[in-house]
Amino acid sequence: MLATACVSFALVAPCLADEFQTPLDSHADSGLQWKECGEVNNHTLQCSQLNVPMDHFNPSSEKTFSIPVIRMLAKNASATGDRHIFLNPGGPGASGVGFLRGSASHLNKLVGEGLHLLSFDPRGVRGSTPPAVCYASNAQRAAAFASNPWDFEYQAGEMYTRAENKAKACVDMMGEYGKYINTPQTASDMTSILDAIGQQKMYYWGLSYGTILGQTYAQMFPERISRMVIDGVSNLNDWYNSFHFDESFIDTDKTFTGFIEECFKAREACPLYSIRGGHFRSAGQLQSYIDDFLRRLEEEPIPVYLNSTNYGAITRRSLVTNGIFFALYKPKTWPLLAQNLADLLNGNSTPAYNAYSESWLTDFLVDDSPTFVVMNDNRKSGPDAPVHGIKPVRNHTLSSPERSVLISRYQGSDIYDRASWSIPTTHDFHPRYRPEFPRTKTAEPILVLSTTWDPVCPLASAKEAQDSFEGARLLEQKSYGHCTLSMPSLCTVGYLRRYFNEGILPEAGAT
Ligand SMILES: *[C@@H]1O[C@H](CO)[C@@H](O)[C@H](O)[C@H]1NC(C)=O
Ligand SMILES: *[C@@H]1O[C@H](CO)[C@@H](O)[C@H](O)[C@H]1NC(C)=O
Ligand SMILES: *[C@@H]1O[C@H](CO)[C@@H](O)[C@H](O)[C@H]1NC(C)=O
Ligand SMILES: *[C@@H]1O[C@H](CO)[C@@H](O)[C@H](O)[C@H]1NC(C)=O
Repeated sequence: MLATACVSFALVAPCLADEFQTPLDSHADSGLQWKECGEVNNHTLQCSQLNVPMDHFNPSSEKTFSIPVIRMLAKNASATGDRHIFLNPGGPGASGVGFLRGSASHLNKLVGEGLHLLSFDPRGVRGSTPPAVCYASNAQRAAAFASNPWDFEYQAGEMYTRAENKAKACVDMMGEYGKYINTPQTASDMTSILDAIGQQKMYYWGLSYGTILGQTYAQMFPERISRMVIDGVSNLNDWYNSFHFDESFIDTDKTFTGFIEECFKAREACPLYSIRGGHFRSAGQLQSYIDDFLRRLEEEPIPVYLNSTNYGAITRRSLVTNGIFFALYKPKTWPLLAQNLADLLNGNSTPAYNAYSESWLTDFLVDDSPTFVVMNDNRKSGPDAPVHGIKPVRNHTLSSPERSVLISRYQGSDIYDRASWSIPTTHDFHPRYRPEFPRTKTAEPILVLSTTWDPVCPLASAKEAQDSFEGARLLEQKSYGHCTLSMPSLCTVGYLRRYFNEGILPEAGAT
């Protein structure tokens, strides 16, 4: 779950000639019936629903998924042919409809009034039907999540058994439908939506897991790409081909070190600069102090008693996964993290307990689409897993390199899920990455965005993506955080706007 919780909490060349040879009919929306469904910042929201083939790769099947679609109309898009930018906020499993309602007003300010914004709940997710579920109720799902020991080192047996039970429950609940919930099918759904709104060329903006969906789309439908921005990039090859994701966490510890260095630079303005009356002499000394604290916490959780119904403990796992790791996504939250950690180190555990005892993922546990997408996409899950059984999986996990001292050990659940999954892979999409495959040639080049230190989708993954698409450009934003939108920059936004509106890429090597 952690590895895949690449959810983004963003709040925040001339066109091809052939695009103009077939006149675009701005009222060609005949495939979709739009209804007004609100307004943000004086822009109309419209909602619709599209039925898509359950199995795009076997046209004889007549079953369908129903996909909710939403768009925000820009004020001056008709001047340029009423184009829509498709958005995916990540996950997998995050609702595009919810994301657009929450963020469209901000995103519209970034790209301007020349392009409509459109999003959708991918098959299996939130408002789509049938939904992807393994549990009869949200309460059961939340309970299963909360009681997971999350520790593959000591509780391998328990985690393996849970994964096997969950895999069976997913098949029981979804029957024949579950196997169609995967990224290549969702990429095909995007083409169905594009056709239904009468737009020939894809304009796309994907964050986090949305970069997996975007890269998949660009490799399946390269001729339809007009603009594609992928921000906070995940490694496509790992996503489809690795039993144990290697790359996600390679910069997590560096991002945490960055948090500590920035705190030290801020001196008295950062509450962590001095603890128990004495201040640190270097960022390294502060880092050692925190590392020691986390090591002790591993052995000895801190009990917290607030009242007779509200008590528990701060464990290393809760502090790291719910607190530190999540904060690394969004540097704007670093002052609060510093305050909560400082209180804890000074002996007041209440703020950290209140802030971090519940998982931030709980809000997303309204369906099991993340499990279906991750398991069904991956070629090493289920019957194709390289190892099966408690001991082999534990051995495999423990013998893989620990990329992040902070977080890697809590990643185990995914691997047990992959080993236990019983639905075979039903798509035949193979990602094509350099150097094994030649670069994919898209109709127009794509734009890759990354921060320098992203705790979950590292710069290295962005570089690999850039290198695998002909003419693609990488814009590195020298900041911390997951996706460039987590640390808004007018410089980045300028490039983004020129690319979406005019097709102009940043110069090579731009930062
Ligand atoms: C909203 O749009 C209407 C119609 O275009 C306009 O009359 C009104 O002034 C706008 N309101 C704001 C707050 O921009
Ligand atoms: C609308 O778009 C056209 C074509 O791109 C542009 O010339 C015009 O300045 C835009 N108008 C506004 C009000 O943004
Ligand atoms: C215990 O604390 C919680 C949260 O602070 C509060 O909602 C609840 O009313 C308290 N219960 C009692 C018995 O004081
Ligand atoms: C443990 O895992 C390593 C690496 O995957 C493998 O080489 C080794 O054979 C495994 N040992 C056992 C006993 O499964």
